[in-house]
Amino acid sequence: MPLDINTILAETRGKNFDLFEKHINPVFVKVLRIIGFNRSWVRGEGAYLWDENGTCYLDFLANWGVFNFGRSHPTIRGALQQVLDSDFPGWVGFDAPPLAAVLARELTKRMPGDLDTVFFCNSGTEAIEAAIKFARASTGRPCIVHLTKAFHGLTTGALSLNGETSFRRGFEPLLPGSSSVVMGDLKGLEARLALGDVASFVFEPIQGKGVNILSDEYLLAAQDLCRKYNTLMICDEIQSGMGRSGRFLACQWIEGLQPDIICLSKALSGGYVPLGATITRRAIYDRVYDSMDRAIVHASTFGMGNLAMAAGLAALTVLDDENLAARANELGSRFRHGIEAMVPRFEFLKGVRQRGLMIGIEFGKPDSISLKAAWTMVNKINENLFAQAVVIPLLDDHHILTQVAGHATPIIKILPPLNIKDTDVDWFLRALEDVMVKLHKFPGPIWEVLLKIGNHVLTAKQREGRSADT
Ligand SMILES: Cc1ncc(COP(=O)(O)O)c(C=O)c1O
Repeated sequence: MPLDINTILAETRGKNFDLFEKHINPVFVKVLRIIGFNRSWVRGEGAYLWDENGTCYLDFLANWGVFNFGRSHPTIRGALQQVLDSDFPGWVGFDAPPLAAVLARELTKRMPGDLDTVFFCNSGTEAIEAAIKFARASTGRPCIVHLTKAFHGLTTGALSLNGETSFRRGFEPLLPGSSSVVMGDLKGLEARLALGDVASFVFEPIQGKGVNILSDEYLLAAQDLCRKYNTLMICDEIQSGMGRSGRFLACQWIEGLQPDIICLSKALSGGYVPLGATITRRAIYDRVYDSMDRAIVHASTFGMGNLAMAAGLAALTVLDDENLAARANELGSRFRHGIEAMVPRFEFLKGVRQRGLMIGIEFGKPDSISLKAAWTMVNKINENLFAQAVVIPLLDDHHILTQVAGHATPIIKILPPLNIKDTDVDWFLRALEDVMVKLHKFPGPIWEVLLKIGNHVLTAKQREGRSADT
């Protein structure tokens, strides 16, 4: 029988969670069921998803920043179809793929400073792994310094640069010589670099976890220190790049900042094909590929595939042709003003962290007695629970996908596609206002849902505790 993907999709509709639970990850399915994200999606286009009942949702999760150009963008889809129709051979192995060379040229045109050489891979974490290896090989030093709240991926090397202990538990010891410094602590950074064994200082200009925007002063001073101690700067633009921040790269907001290595992924693929890139200067690259028998000393079988390269070229075209970095700025200001206007009205709402369309909405302890009691109660159960109290009704009542911005942070993050409409901003602002109104009524229906979830979390924790004891 010929393979029919549409039949498979139709037959598994509504049953996908059971199947996934059985053969892939039951714990994740449990989480999805508790927070109500167990919906069967049947279609995606632009910033919208449709479920099996035909309900339209606004996707402000965008797969953690992959869909800067929305789903099914015709230019990106068209480029992929052209590659498939061309029969042009990819992955010959001993070859120099032309689409890869052109995408590398186009990327280097958009880089700060003299970064003129690209390594292609298939994900963000692989882009970081390459950066770690390039930094070590070119400096001859073993250590990498990262920030305490960093996230750079989950393969072993990238995980060594992760600020969150819960990700690391069970996988240690990780890369020897990796250590963290606190953002803003220049003395701590200098003390570490002065030991003379640090190959690189790695940072996200806007941290994905918590949407912390690193200040110009801090990064420029860190750059001076890196230059003083011959340490390379790796700038992780995997989430903040590709127009998301309102510039091609978020580091380009800072005049004079010129990282030595830049990592891109997520939106670089236009949302269809996995793709990552590590961009550096020739002198660094040449220290890695330093002889003919080391010509492919760092490589990956599926690197530089024609579909990924075409998707990358199409993504750059869409970004330029639709002027989406500028649009991200315009839309970002609209969100900021709308949210800030609500702050005086809602005790739980504390502020907004925003650059372009990378937006964190901050919540915190209210002043009035009854709300303070509610805040304390949920935070005692779980430090992520309050943020879920915003995410869940945004999805259930207003059909908007958002996310909690990190572990134990009362912040939600939105990463809307850069080509959304003004009316989508209004949809979100109206929804946030409604959720705030409801959350400021305690007791009330949202709090009941929250406590139910809190009970699930507590029971699961108790069960885990009991099985760990036995
Ligand atoms: C800033 C940053 N770096 C690296 C990564 C890892 O990327 P990937 O999940 O493609 O491995 C992510 C993923 O969320 C990220 O946000």
